[in-house]
Amino acid sequence: MTKLCVIPGDGIGREVIPAAVKVLKTVLPDLETEYADAGWECFLAQGTSVPEETFNKIRSCGAALFGAVSSPARKVEGYRSAILTMRQGLDLYANLRPVYSLPRISPRQDVNMIIVRENSEGLYISRERQEGEQMFAERLISRKASLRIGRTAAQLVVNTNSSRLTIVHKANVLPMSDGLFRDSVAEAVSEISANEYIILVDELLVDIAALKLIEDPCRFEVLVTTNLFGDILSDLASYWMGGIALAPSLNLGDGIALAEPVHGSAPDIAGKGIANPLASILSAAMLVRHVWHDEPTASRIEGAVRQAISTDLYDEDGQQVPGFTTELALQSVLKHL
Ligand code: NAI
Ligand code: MG
Repeated sequence: MTKLCVIPGDGIGREVIPAAVKVLKTVLPDLETEYADAGWECFLAQGTSVPEETFNKIRSCGAALFGAVSSPARKVEGYRSAILTMRQGLDLYANLRPVYSLPRISPRQDVNMIIVRENSEGLYISRERQEGEQMFAERLISRKASLRIGRTAAQLVVNTNSSRLTIVHKANVLPMSDGLFRDSVAEAVSEISANEYIILVDELLVDIAALKLIEDPCRFEVLVTTNLFGDILSDLASYWMGGIALAPSLNLGDGIALAEPVHGSAPDIAGKGIANPLASILSAAMLVRHVWHDEPTASRIEGAVRQAISTDLYDEDGQQVPGFTTELALQSVLKHL
């Protein structure tokens, strides 16, 4: 029996996740769901952004679908971002962020890449300290985590029948840490390449990578990078999908996974029923593909999203139709499944 832990979170997470669950239950009628809490509202009510019970439910299901949480931009005593807490607590060390063209909405129709973001270290160890009027933020790059993400990225090149892996770093300024990242990823790739598959490896400094992602997005197939660079570059690249409301992602560990749309809790539109559920539905499709290994069903969901976009949800100029609602988008996707 396939089990899924559902964590709507805050804001529009509570609007888009029910739509994605409805789609999943339509294509996988035997799917069992369990609900769990996380986020800012949860912190206010329970004093923690991710209760132990939530961790236990995710572990016992092995797969979770998460909406979004709100995080204050100032330090709040005792609060830590729920998504960072879950990524670290569950050792979800890889974050896959595909970017592919969608009909009507995408500014061009030939983009197809996956950004693989190292998800466990970098600046996200959140170690900040103060010395007088200076603030320091530590950034951790380890050989172990870099090899691990390198293997994930190389395996993804093989599994998606791609040919090229681009390593993005800043080793000209940070030769020790980013040099280690680049060399470890290259080592992991050579292990996989030697055995079964030729992978072309190239590398780009992160600043020029940002330019190339705009100038020549088709040169990218699989891109692997450190945590912060992956965070920033994936938001930038989501432009080619049609923006943040469309971009899906999957956090992966060993035997455990958590899918989430790239966007946040969107307090500006929360409660209005107009949040776009497509990023969440496409994130659910990633669970189906990468965790439950059911490619036909994943493609079926993605195909329905494409048809919904072309028929009911966007006009020929790529603008959302007047009267677009979360419910309209859901009904259109269900109709095209
Ligand atoms: P955001 O992604 O929530 O919103 C950015 C803009 O995109 C807003 O104008 C919003 O209305 C729009 N938008 C986002 N998702 C949409 C959707 N599905 N449909 C239609 N419009 C959508 O990012 P923002 O405003 O920077 O952050 C808001 C809150 O979300 C903050 O508390 C932040 O900490 C949190 N956040 C949480 C994330 C997570 O849980 N993974 C990721 C990013 C931000
Ligand atoms: Mg982000």
